[in-house]
Amino acid sequence: MLILAFESSCDETAAAVVRDGREVLSDAIASQADLHALYGGVVPEIASRKHIEAIAPLTDRALQEAGVTREEIDAVAVTCGPGLIGALLVGVNFAKSVAFALRKPLIPVHHLRGHIAANYIAFPELEPPFLALCISGGNTMLVDVRGYTDMEIVGATRDDAAGECFDKIARVLGLPYPGGKPMDDLAQGGDDRAYALPRSHVADSELDVSFSGLKTAVVNLVHNAAQKGEAIDRPGLAASVAAAVSDELVPRTIAAARQLGRRTVVAAGGVAANSRIRADLERACRENGIRLYLPPLRLCGDNGAMIGAQAYYESLCTPYADMSLNAYANLPI
Ligand code: KG4
Repeated sequence: MLILAFESSCDETAAAVVRDGREVLSDAIASQADLHALYGGVVPEIASRKHIEAIAPLTDRALQEAGVTREEIDAVAVTCGPGLIGALLVGVNFAKSVAFALRKPLIPVHHLRGHIAANYIAFPELEPPFLALCISGGNTMLVDVRGYTDMEIVGATRDDAAGECFDKIARVLGLPYPGGKPMDDLAQGGDDRAYALPRSHVADSELDVSFSGLKTAVVNLVHNAAQKGEAIDRPGLAASVAAAVSDELVPRTIAAARQLGRRTVVAAGGVAANSRIRADLERACRENGIRLYLPPLRLCGDNGAMIGAQAYYESLCTPYADMSLNAYANLPI
């Protein structure tokens, strides 16, 4: 089954052609990150306008690179949520138009299910059940993936997402948006015990996390140092932040896998590119006899291929959407 898939939930417009959920024939992406960097974060109105400009040429590129004609496409897929509502609406309405014009079925895809499915592209042998650690700019959650379309959230952030935490801290350190990768680069060679940063404890919820305390602690630390004219050990602070974020996520991932009896863990989302989190996950999974799948860096961030991959499995289990399909800023997994 050849699926033409669209993604436009945040600041990446993407169109891809994927065969049978696993084989990527093309994956065209237009990032707006440089534009939003001027403002230190995503400006929703600008994101929507840029998606409108990018999506039609990207579709042509995706079809051309895949070497398929519009008529050869079997179905059209699109991220319908969660994300920025204006941004999502561009993708959803464009996908509806394409499906209508070509008389092809329309498959709505949950953005985080897509992030998880990025692993099906990278690892042909991977099949549910497994536990997924989903860590992106807007979401942080542990998901029990019982089947390709049967999932349950078993732990989540109570406030900020992991990526948001990196991005906001990067901003006070004067690093460009999105700050996760620059923070990761700065942390290389830094002493991860340079600063004692808080770890969260969510009462009565062993698997939930919180990042707002960590974010606030670092923001206050940087502002206090500036007021006193003290220098910050920037690599040390970046390394200490990475260690704190990883300490929130990795032990809870192992605890969740044990509780659920899962022997396989999968990482997903933009923050899954973080070198400290990857190294800690590798060590912890090895020590606990858990098989770990870490997506290659190019499949961690938003892309259309992951939506095409998940769409295939949705098509096997869920009815197609019709022209009443809407976009949702919040959408349960
Ligand atoms: O999955 P993604 O591309 O978009 C969402 O669906 O949210 O994730 C973007 C997030 C941003 O917060 C970005 O700073 C973060 O992923 N990120 C990283 C790294 N690379 C990207 N965070 C930590 N370390 C990285 N190496």
